[in-house]
Amino acid sequence: MNTQFGSKANPIAFDHESPEHADNWVAEFRDMREKCPVGWTEHHGGFWVATSYAAVVDMARDTGSFSSHKSFDPQTGTGSGGITIPFTPIPRGLPVESDPPEWNALRGFINRRFAPKAVEAFRDDARLYATALLNRVIETGEMDLVNDFTGPVPAMVTMKMMGLPLSEWREFADPLHAMVFTPKEAPEYASVVAGVEWIFRRCAEEFVRYKDQPEEDNLLSFFAHQQVDGRKLSLDEVLSLANNIIIGGVDTTTALTTHALAYLADHPEAKARLMADPSLIPFAREEFLRFFTPIHCLARNVTQDTAINGQDLEQGDRVMLAWAAANRDPEIFEKPDEVQFDRSSNRHLAFGSGIHRCIGSSFARMMFEEMIAQMFARIPEWEVDRAASQRYRSVGTINGWESMPIHFAPGSRVACSLEI
Ligand code: HEM
Repeated sequence: MNTQFGSKANPIAFDHESPEHADNWVAEFRDMREKCPVGWTEHHGGFWVATSYAAVVDMARDTGSFSSHKSFDPQTGTGSGGITIPFTPIPRGLPVESDPPEWNALRGFINRRFAPKAVEAFRDDARLYATALLNRVIETGEMDLVNDFTGPVPAMVTMKMMGLPLSEWREFADPLHAMVFTPKEAPEYASVVAGVEWIFRRCAEEFVRYKDQPEEDNLLSFFAHQQVDGRKLSLDEVLSLANNIIIGGVDTTTALTTHALAYLADHPEAKARLMADPSLIPFAREEFLRFFTPIHCLARNVTQDTAINGQDLEQGDRVMLAWAAANRDPEIFEKPDEVQFDRSSNRHLAFGSGIHRCIGSSFARMMFEEMIAQMFARIPEWEVDRAASQRYRSVGTINGWESMPIHFAPGSRVACSLEI
């Protein structure tokens, strides 16, 4: 029997959902990477966790041994597999919770809607929403960065992309954000779930409407009229695609931009450098993606017995790929715990690796750029009220902020075709 440190017989103490991990994840991952880059923990029914860059990439690329497939029975609310630990009792997201060959058909179907050229068509929208949202608050000299700005912009761009009416942006943005941070045992959890259910009901209603009234440029209409492998998508498949695109894209971009704006408030010299030379912003963006890694960890299911780093992974075991740990691996990144805008190579894993690598990366990058540009142009100085800011209680899936009040010198509204 394998008794080495981190084996099932000699497990590590690790819980990505715990407040201790949220407070201390950089040091905890450093320790795990050094002592046992692939280790077994008994939490959440037991799972392996990979923390070195090499192990995370190997597992992410080996879809034959590490499956993303999820099964779920809506009658009983039970199921298995998928990319979260613990299991999330909702229908699966697609394509992310599928394996080849199912994955090939679905990803191929949506790929071109997320290509850089398709994304550029939404840049003016992102700019318009960012402008209108800052108009709402700029005269007051204060806002909640997350709830007034970095949350709504990605939510509104996503609504536009999907073909949902923009007038419903608040009903859309708030539950998506609250779903990530509200503990399941909190009294308000039921109303948050109801809010998210409402969003998917609206997706279903609009999808049905677009069947009769096609529109060229939105995804729900595209889903209603295009064929995959010679057939139309079912409503369940449409909702699973919407689930992945909406839940995968909104709060992640919010987390990235909030972390970046907080960092820049704390590091005025870095902010001054970016403002003086905006050509550095794409490099800064990649470094913020690496350093903060908004999607902290995601899971896989082991499909066949496999040995990695001297550990014996068995068929049916769950395994966690810690993107955030891999992104601080000193084997790959020099001085990994420093933010350096001029890294010569930044092969970070914030968007994952292998076939499931983020399809929305160009969207995320574009939305980040537009939000940063609006802040720099209109609110060049801001101060974060750290005492009143609330980080997510668990950073285990998304490492982000529930709220972040900021103060700034009041400014003026600008002409904008959108009043919200
Ligand atoms: C900073 C923002 C974002 C981050 C950090 C992020 C991160 C990731 C990661 C790590 C994966 C890999 C999942 C896996 O391997 O299991 C992924 C996949 C995915 N992301 Fe993103 N994402 C972001 C923004 C977006 C946006 C804006 C969209 C949609 C507009 C999106 C849609 C998706 C989809 C559909 C997949 C599944 C791809 C597949 O399975 O083939 N993401 N994302």
